[in-house]
Amino acid sequence: MGKPLKIIHVVGARPNFIKIASILRACKKTSKIESLLVHTGQHYTENMSKIFFKDLDIPFPDIDLEVGSDSHAQQTAEIMKHFEPVVLEHNPDAILVVGDVNSTIACALVAAKLGVKTVHVEAGLRSFDRTMPEEVNRILTDAISDLLFVTEPSGLVNLKREGIDGTKVHFVGNVMIDTLELHKKKASNSRILDELNLLVGQYVVVTLHRPSNVDQHQALIRILNALAEIQKEIKIVFPIHPRTYKQLTANRLMQKTKDLPNMLLIKPLGYLNFLKLMSESKVVITDSGGIQEETTILGIPCLTVRENTERPITITEGTNVLVGTDTNRIVGSYRESLNKARLHTRPKFWDGIASERIVRILLNCL
Ligand code: UD1
Ligand code: UDP
Repeated sequence: MGKPLKIIHVVGARPNFIKIASILRACKKTSKIESLLVHTGQHYTENMSKIFFKDLDIPFPDIDLEVGSDSHAQQTAEIMKHFEPVVLEHNPDAILVVGDVNSTIACALVAAKLGVKTVHVEAGLRSFDRTMPEEVNRILTDAISDLLFVTEPSGLVNLKREGIDGTKVHFVGNVMIDTLELHKKKASNSRILDELNLLVGQYVVVTLHRPSNVDQHQALIRILNALAEIQKEIKIVFPIHPRTYKQLTANRLMQKTKDLPNMLLIKPLGYLNFLKLMSESKVVITDSGGIQEETTILGIPCLTVRENTERPITITEGTNVLVGTDTNRIVGSYRESLNKARLHTRPKFWDGIASERIVRILLNCL
């Protein structure tokens, strides 16, 4: 038997941990792959990073670049500067990046420049909105990757339009759903509803962190006004992302939001507690990419406070609705969603074994 394929897997931010958990698990099942895990340190606080390693049994990172927060250019540059020596020292056969965060493009670019094969998991998604930092990361990462793994049919269409060689592209499904399927039983035992004093189906979950929503003062106010209306009708649980926390405190909106009688502001939750919280909720209101997908599988109505989505299958499957940031539109959409039956849909290959497909292709193509 020849030497195993050496792959450096890269994680940096919250959604990366959830995606890499199932990929690493699948890689571990074969002796033909040797995995090394690099954490860039883009996210670093306990409840944005460490908790996911515990909840999802992700091995401790082999290398932590500890870059922390900064402007886009500084952060991307720091990751590149720290990642290049790691690639040179370990001389991998490939590096594997997931999603669309700054760590994704930074490490892909380092590998491409060193002539190391680059694998992109969750390729081809496009919001067609270049003011969104992730859209730039997506387009660039796909342009320099050697193997592109796609979650939904729109990804195939987008990559073809951009002239990406079709032999590099593989439609494998969604590794985030692999992780959901693997952990849903464990998550069902979470005590989070009792801890927060919530009843099944009688609360709404809110998450917000897109700069276009939380760094734009007027947009943030419009969304908060909608939440203030909705909480008159149902309890809201709002785990606050650190970017949002910063904006709420800087703009003296935190106390005002906290004072709403039916609004529960909490810290970001670990994966198992958050999965339980979503699973038992009436409606989810979010601007997260991953949560649009998870609610599709859970069959929970999702109101996405954006004008576009890079994940159009969540719309066509019927669980997700784009509601923008207009106060009345959000409130009206919330009320409409109450009449919707819970859907049981499953996009093609969102079946819990996308990572296994990826591993098979890695072994054949690298
Ligand atoms: C990043 C990703 C975004 C992803 C999100 C997932 C980019 C460009 N953005 O956005 O695509 O959807 O993660 O959550 O890569 N902070 C902490 N603790 C942490 C991390 C951040 O307090 O562990 C604070 C810092 O003040 C930081 C701010 O949050 O400045 C934003 O963090 P950053 O990683 O720059 O962007 P996110 O908004 O988290
Ligand atoms: N998530 C979590 N705890 C929270 C909020 C979200 O575990 O308090 C999970 C969520 O279930 C999903 C992922 O984090 O798996 C989504 O990450 P995020 O919304 O930060 O990023 P995006 O998907 O928008 O890039």
